[in-house]
Amino acid sequence: MARARLEYRCSACDAAAARWSGRCPACGEWNTVVEAPDTPAGRVPSAWWDHDPQAFERDGARIDGERALALADVDPSGCLPRPTGLGELDAVLGGGLLPGSVTLLGGEPGVGKSTLLLQVLLTVASEGRRVLLVSAEESAAQVRRRAGRLGPVPDAVTLLPTGDLSSLPGALREGSPELVVVDSVQAVFDPAAGGPPGSLGQVRACTDLLVSIAKHHGPAVVLVGHVTKDGALAGPRTLEHLVDTVLSVEGDRHHALRTVRAVKHRFGPTGEVGLFEMADAGLAAVTDPYRLLLGDRRPGAPGSAVLPAVEGQRALLVELQALSAPSAGDAPCRRSAQGVDGGRLALLIAVLEQRAGVRLARTDVFASAVGGIRVTEPAADLALALAVASAVEGRPLPPDLVAFGEVGLGGEVRHVPHAPRRLAEAARVGFRHALVPSSCPDGPPGMEVLHARSLGEAVALACAAPDRA
Ligand code: TYD
Ligand code: MG
Repeated sequence: MARARLEYRCSACDAAAARWSGRCPACGEWNTVVEAPDTPAGRVPSAWWDHDPQAFERDGARIDGERALALADVDPSGCLPRPTGLGELDAVLGGGLLPGSVTLLGGEPGVGKSTLLLQVLLTVASEGRRVLLVSAEESAAQVRRRAGRLGPVPDAVTLLPTGDLSSLPGALREGSPELVVVDSVQAVFDPAAGGPPGSLGQVRACTDLLVSIAKHHGPAVVLVGHVTKDGALAGPRTLEHLVDTVLSVEGDRHHALRTVRAVKHRFGPTGEVGLFEMADAGLAAVTDPYRLLLGDRRPGAPGSAVLPAVEGQRALLVELQALSAPSAGDAPCRRSAQGVDGGRLALLIAVLEQRAGVRLARTDVFASAVGGIRVTEPAADLALALAVASAVEGRPLPPDLVAFGEVGLGGEVRHVPHAPRRLAEAARVGFRHALVPSSCPDGPPGMEVLHARSLGEAVALACAAPDRA
């Protein structure tokens, strides 16, 4: 093992420096440069770890000095995912959590991360499997109260109500939990690393430490990470490289629907989405998504279009709405997007104006995906553009119409993947007409498929069909 050499790091921006200075030359913060031992990749950067290496021997193998071995001789059976017991989450994870893996669960404050993971802990422990919660944000009593709302609290759930990670080895030795949840990575700290909890240096040091614990000691580790308003996890995206899996919990705090997506997954598919509903007793799997997504829809109202979206393996009908209003005075036109991409909305407005003859100058446009869901795939373009055109023209789209397709800058409607799956789901839910790219195959029996080569053609077809409205 190479001898540790002293280097300096800024606890605010994590920049390395050859010598100490009162002000970080990279970010300009004062008193943030601290001594940090140089840590080659894979080494645990914590002093307390070095003092107790025996604690983390597993299967008789030391952490350091691993020898190369024949891959064919490795037993893969120790590497099967273990279900969390929450079906929607297990589907997103491709079966469950892998022993020795590290998962980062990101989401905005208040979206339901702690609730979801407490439910996972209670469910896993209800089978007698030992679990540990490192609670750095809530006291023992607060966690107990919350757990009591969610269900019975099995003895196999253990709690470490502190942010100090130097308490973790003892708790692991004592309980040998198979699942460790750390809530949150911004609130825990490693006393051996400098800087306050939540600083980039601390967050990285703690994540490094927890990754080493998972890899060498065997529990599945799940870290909670709060995302900032601009969607970043703990500042820059460094954390995402350190962990095996990144899950994202999304949802509008004012709506019940929560989606859980695998953004990165070393051991399974990405893009799968789990649907939950925030209720009085925590998050419940959504069995009928259309109660939340289409339940209050007013078919025949201008500005409403239905998109058969695809998330992972799942097709899901989502209502996209638009509203237009004259801009006030000389103020710039307002464009507001909720649950749909703002840049895409601006682009579609320009294409509608330039290529499809829809007058949008001096018009404010507001657009949203209904139910607190977020739609980002390019296949949403056509439905979103039709919702805007319908709002501006004051003409409703046919109530049993769905639309999908990507819209190019030339106004062309482009092919998108999974057309048969989208059409099948729309037909299953009772929609009878679909407006789709010209390359799209015909739909299932009972569904009339209208092909459009351009956005202008699509607007003419959809907004001029009063017999079906
Ligand atoms: P929480 O899990 O604390 O969010 P996070 O850890 O992501 O910050 O969720 C907080 C919200 O969830 C809060 O607004 C209350 C709501 N909630 C329920 O509606 N029902 C419940 O059973 C629980 C536990 C929370
Ligand atoms: Mg929380």
